[in-house]
Amino acid sequence: MNKQIKVLVTGSNGQVGSELNALSHQYPALVFKFTDRSNMSITDPEAVESCFRDFEPDYCINCAAYTAVDKAEEAAAAVIATQINADAVELLARTCTAHNTKLVHISTDYVFDGTAHQPYRPDAATNPVSVYGATKLKGEQLAAAHTDAVIIRTAWVYSSFGKNFVKTMLRLMSERPAINVVSDQQGSPTYARDLAAAILDLVSKGKWVAGIYHYTNEGTTTWYDFAVAIKKLASSSCEVHPIPTSAFPTPAKRPSYSVLDKSSFKDTFHLNIPYWESSLKKCIEMMEVA
Ligand SMILES: NC(=O)c1ccc[n+]([C@@H]2O[C@H](COP(=O)([O-])OP(=O)(O)OC[C@H]3O[C@@H](n4cnc5c(N)ncnc54)[C@H](OP(=O)(O)O)[C@@H]3O)[C@@H](O)[C@H]2O)c1
Repeated sequence: MNKQIKVLVTGSNGQVGSELNALSHQYPALVFKFTDRSNMSITDPEAVESCFRDFEPDYCINCAAYTAVDKAEEAAAAVIATQINADAVELLARTCTAHNTKLVHISTDYVFDGTAHQPYRPDAATNPVSVYGATKLKGEQLAAAHTDAVIIRTAWVYSSFGKNFVKTMLRLMSERPAINVVSDQQGSPTYARDLAAAILDLVSKGKWVAGIYHYTNEGTTTWYDFAVAIKKLASSSCEVHPIPTSAFPTPAKRPSYSVLDKSSFKDTFHLNIPYWESSLKKCIEMMEVA
């Protein structure tokens, strides 16, 4: 009989964690333990050690993160963001090495400053322009320093679970006759379910090449065009108007261009990535039946 592959998921109440949970029954060869802040805070060394000792995971998928990008610009929140996005990642990485566990860690396009004009490769120079981005970059560095991690940078994540741009747009479109959406930031949306499936395919195939990879859905858009696509799929009559970022100031600066080059992910793990429009349609259909 084949050995069961044990997979520990942290932060499993978030978007990506919830999608991993929703897909888990499709992977009978994998045995899962889903943890969240209440039963395994990744900042708690004793809770982390006890969980690894009891479960002895082959893989740890770290979905736990401080993701309040604007709040992280406040001094007190920045300290917490650093504890969760950087210090706790070092703890997880060290614990993975000690228990012979492979770490899949999720990071972000916000490690880049957005001044590029062509998709960022994983080895492109980083230069975060927000506190959140800086804490996530530190987390990547600590993960790589302490274990042979697969680090996956993603972007513009949405899901039928949690809070995200798609849900916010659907709500605003149902409440207002017109909305304004920034049209000068370019990137690629990511349906968290596709990312979760890619991670589970990677784990279940057992092909492991440590390093930094990029994963988003295929295709490029702007927040404005993303909103227009949501409007069409929801058959909303709300008007969507393009505005420049300067007309929608936020505490944290965002990269104006954060398209990620996914070639190394596709080449290494031999996985196809769906286009963002088809995945958006699937997610909205999923929300409609829920
Ligand atoms: N969302 C995006 O657009 C986006 C873009 C690029 C990259 N990413 C990255 O993708 C990953 C997953 O993001 P997501 O959208 O799924 O995030 P999310 O929905 O905000 O989920 C993060 C989860 O982490 C949990 N968490 C926070 N601190 C914790 C701790 N100390 N111990 C255990 N769990 C803790 C949160 O719980 P609480 O709710 O209790 O705090 C939450 O359930 C993160 O690494 C994020 O940085 C996200």
